Amino acid sequence: MNIIVCRNYEEMSLRAARIVAEQIKAKPNLVLGLATGSTPEGMYAQLADMNQKGELSFKEVTTVNLDEYYPIAPANDQSYRYFMNRHLFDHIDIDKANTHVPDGAAADPAAEGKRYEELISDLGGIDLQVLGIGRNGHIGFNEPDSKLILDTHVTDLTESTIEANSRFFASPSDVPRRALTMGIGSIFKAKKILLMISGVEKKAAVSALLERTVDTNFPATMLNLHPDVTLVCTADVLD
Ligand code: PGA
Repeated sequence: MNIIVCRNYEEMSLRAARIVAEQIKAKPNLVLGLATGSTPEGMYAQLADMNQKGELSFKEVTTVNLDEYYPIAPANDQSYRYFMNRHLFDHIDIDKANTHVPDGAAADPAAEGKRYEELISDLGGIDLQVLGIGRNGHIGFNEPDSKLILDTHVTDLTESTIEANSRFFASPSDVPRRALTMGIGSIFKAKKILLMISGVEKKAAVSALLERTVDTNFPATMLNLHPDVTLVCTADVLD
């Protein structure tokens, strides 16, 4: 794993944005896997800025997001589709028809998982996948468990994730209990992975990740098996 340590959140956001930009410049029709959450927000602002300054174009880029709450309407302001529009897609020259998020309004979540898996495969796979990490070690919504599911699927969120996500909701009881998520196999098929980690509350998660072991009860450790992972993190997660 290639590790880039940054002084603060702003520097991490800029370094990560430059990595994404380099990949788009090298392959303008990049298939870019994206993540939601607080961690990548600054990187999205940097990418939007590069686009507005005419330094980077998303015209030919296709995006696939990792996950979405289930059930949720895409227009709901708590949906990840809404988050992506607000933080990135509304500010760049991407064709929205080429932006994909699992459909939180699908009538049959199992069929939606299958459709999403086929979509990724039809796109020729993901070139670069951006990832965050949960305090409990989840990637996407692959929560700690004795077994991890390979393909896109619907999953129950753990209490720890519901509690972490409740900061965005009026009350913890409003937080969705389920989500559609790419599986560990879908994530692993990405040619490159850009893992972003920031904030002292992720310290334990980072040490578990850097232990060089794998543990399905800490899904991010599986990344130790991927051949091309770059971790961009703030220095405070390593002290
Ligand atoms: P965060 O979420 O960036 O909001 O901390 C990351 C995650 O839960 O994967």
